[in-house]
Amino acid sequence: MIIAANFKMNLTPRKIHEYLHVLEQKQEYSSYAHINIILFPNMASLMSDEVLRGCALSSLTLGAQNAYPAFNGAFTGEIGAEILEELNISTLMIGHSERREIFNETQEFCQKKFDFYKKLNFKILYCIGEPLHIRKNGQHELKNYLNMQLCNIDVSYNNLIIAYEPIWAIGSGISAEAHVIEETHQLIKEILQNNNASNIPLLYGGSVKTDNVREILMLDGVDGVLVGSASLSPYEFSAILQVAVELQKI
Ligand code: 13P
Repeated sequence: MIIAANFKMNLTPRKIHEYLHVLEQKQEYSSYAHINIILFPNMASLMSDEVLRGCALSSLTLGAQNAYPAFNGAFTGEIGAEILEELNISTLMIGHSERREIFNETQEFCQKKFDFYKKLNFKILYCIGEPLHIRKNGQHELKNYLNMQLCNIDVSYNNLIIAYEPIWAIGSGISAEAHVIEETHQLIKEILQNNNASNIPLLYGGSVKTDNVREILMLDGVDGVLVGSASLSPYEFSAILQVAVELQKI
């Protein structure tokens, strides 16, 4: 099971250091042994020795929320592979709806990033998800949309995780209903199978919190969750991890 936290542009390096301390005190890390926990903090925190040390101690994987598809070069404001390699970061999120929508990242650009970091054998958390108007137009259009977001992405890549995050559920406080998550995950798994990819972990994201995570994690086809707002509190995130631990025991 994979439990991932996307801090987005929140929490400073100092706050994340304190956060890790709380997480460590809340839980025996040995009980997380079968859960793959990935934190995606901001870039400054990836450069903090204290954060790196805290995560290493607790066997948490750190990932980057974004990176440019080049080793280094004249790309003002960006982070590239050389920097990530020096920081020992080999996990990268690509295709988050906020990057696609706010920063106008096209499917072609997501594909370029994917191909570049795949060659470097990065673990890639690739995000897909539709806006509300597409969902309202029915199953056919939804399938086309999700297919398009996976277009030219090598889904047989063995270091790939996919996160389904319906845009209308992100940050709304209300997650997609259980049957919607289950049906859509089924649809995505069919798309993956048609592209000769099975066993790709598929996470759900969009207003996951303590009071709905148990139901979501128990759904067919859900291999984990990608948590935004609720991951910002170490108390809430450790409660989410606790649910994952309990479900692993069933
Ligand atoms: P929320 O959990 O705040 O809805 O955010 C989800 C998300 O975008 C994670 O990547």
